Amino acid sequence: MMSFKKFYITTPLYYVNASPHIGHSYTNIAADTLARYMRGCLGRDNVWFLTGTDEHGQKIQKAAAEAGLAPQEFADMTVRQFRELWERLNISYNDFIRTSEPRHISIVQKALEILYNKGDIYQGKYEGWYCTPCETFWVESQITGQSCPDCNRPLEKISEKNYFFKLSAYQQWLIRYIQDNPLFIGPKFRRNEVLSFLKLNRLNDLCISRPKERLSWGIPLPFSPDYVTYVWFDALLNYISAVGHFDKDNRYVSKWWPADLHLIGKDILRQHAVYWPIMLKALEIEPPRTVFAHGWWMTGEDKMSKSRGNVISPLEMVDRFGIDVYRYFLLRDVPFGLDGNFSEEAIIKRFNADLANDLGNLVYRTLTMIEKYYAGEIPQRCKASDVEGKSIEAAIERLSGVCAKFLDAAADFNFGASLEAIWKVVNMANKYVEEKKPWNLAKQNKSDELKAFIRLLVEVIRKVAEGISASMPLTAEAIKEQLGSERIKKGKPLFPRIDSR
Ligand code: MSP
Repeated sequence: MMSFKKFYITTPLYYVNASPHIGHSYTNIAADTLARYMRGCLGRDNVWFLTGTDEHGQKIQKAAAEAGLAPQEFADMTVRQFRELWERLNISYNDFIRTSEPRHISIVQKALEILYNKGDIYQGKYEGWYCTPCETFWVESQITGQSCPDCNRPLEKISEKNYFFKLSAYQQWLIRYIQDNPLFIGPKFRRNEVLSFLKLNRLNDLCISRPKERLSWGIPLPFSPDYVTYVWFDALLNYISAVGHFDKDNRYVSKWWPADLHLIGKDILRQHAVYWPIMLKALEIEPPRTVFAHGWWMTGEDKMSKSRGNVISPLEMVDRFGIDVYRYFLLRDVPFGLDGNFSEEAIIKRFNADLANDLGNLVYRTLTMIEKYYAGEIPQRCKASDVEGKSIEAAIERLSGVCAKFLDAAADFNFGASLEAIWKVVNMANKYVEEKKPWNLAKQNKSDELKAFIRLLVEVIRKVAEGISASMPLTAEAIKEQLGSERIKKGKPLFPRIDSR
């Protein structure tokens, strides 16, 4: 388990060329869960949760032109959809950065200037293949035919003067750094992928400029105004531009840096685990503690993405199933780090089994018994005297430690396993009700036993509410509302069963 005094967590900055989909919402829900949990451990003021939007570059310039708008106008319009979605999904970010904001632009220009003056950025000639939609250069040895190895779309042959960042000079340093810091890249298998890539290939220097005549929507290079900055070089710097500044000696100063965790999807690992630490090293800034890449949500065999035309809207899912059900499903159904298949049937299955049958039922039957046997007043705390009760008591004692599992980078932030541990206790409690048959206890006037039994169920539910408060904040609140004080406040069942269509 890592130890923290402050916790700075980030999500990728989403491109504003299209509406957000389930894949985007996944990272923000995971980050939100961690941020909420850490606020509980460290206090609100010691956690900083950053998200935002990536607004420059070809993709956005093109989408804006197609919509007949200026890029900034277009970005202003789509950024709203991201903000609204985060609001709807209860994402408790502290700051939302847009790469078109002056606070970001000035840091990017400062960083470029520092690197240029120090000789880490130089002018050179670029000749080779270029994928416009991905904004990626490819050299002959990386391609077969004339299509992009990433997206399969046709490549263009180009030859132009550009500016380059000396990635290659830092390759050996990076290999050492990754070897010496086992938690820098996660999951472990991704760390191994990056390491073997670095050991087997010579890094090319990174082309960090685009001539204005080809792309005008970007941050101008301070030392060469006919060029704008390559969108990745610009966007990565958000993680420092949002939380600090360079002082007069060009030293970066920040209360929050280094980031404790950059959560990203697996497709942008190279940029975060190779370009980014090298950029920071060149700027004499500490690397982030951990970069963790999660997998993709797929529809059938394909990654869910706009270019594949198979996206599902998170809003639609939330309208149909509810916010916390959606959050629960994404965190619970697939181990963090691996790919998962998204389908409504899978949500319904989880909903009916884990939420309606297990948790919802436990809360509802407990409330009903308190209403029936104690006229709504929750009995006083007392110790369980039977074996099953004692083992449940021990299980809830252990729960906080088990729940914290998802904070552990070494254990791959396993949200699923943490929720599973909570559900084990829920199931123990449901089994206890079925075996104990409280109606018999009532009939036989075993009032002490009945009281201890019901009180234990209340303890379980309160502990469960605490355990899910980071991942399902609204549900935890609803439970607290119903069972949080001396008298119950019975509402509707938390999760009425869904009949599949
Ligand atoms: N703008 C860059 C990131 C810059 S970070 C300084 C970008 N944007 S993106 O909008 O294309 O993707 C953002 C994130 O969404 C990536 O982490 C990507 O992995 C994630 N996802 C996009 N589709 C996804 C799925 N189908 N499933 C899970 N996550 C996926 O890349």
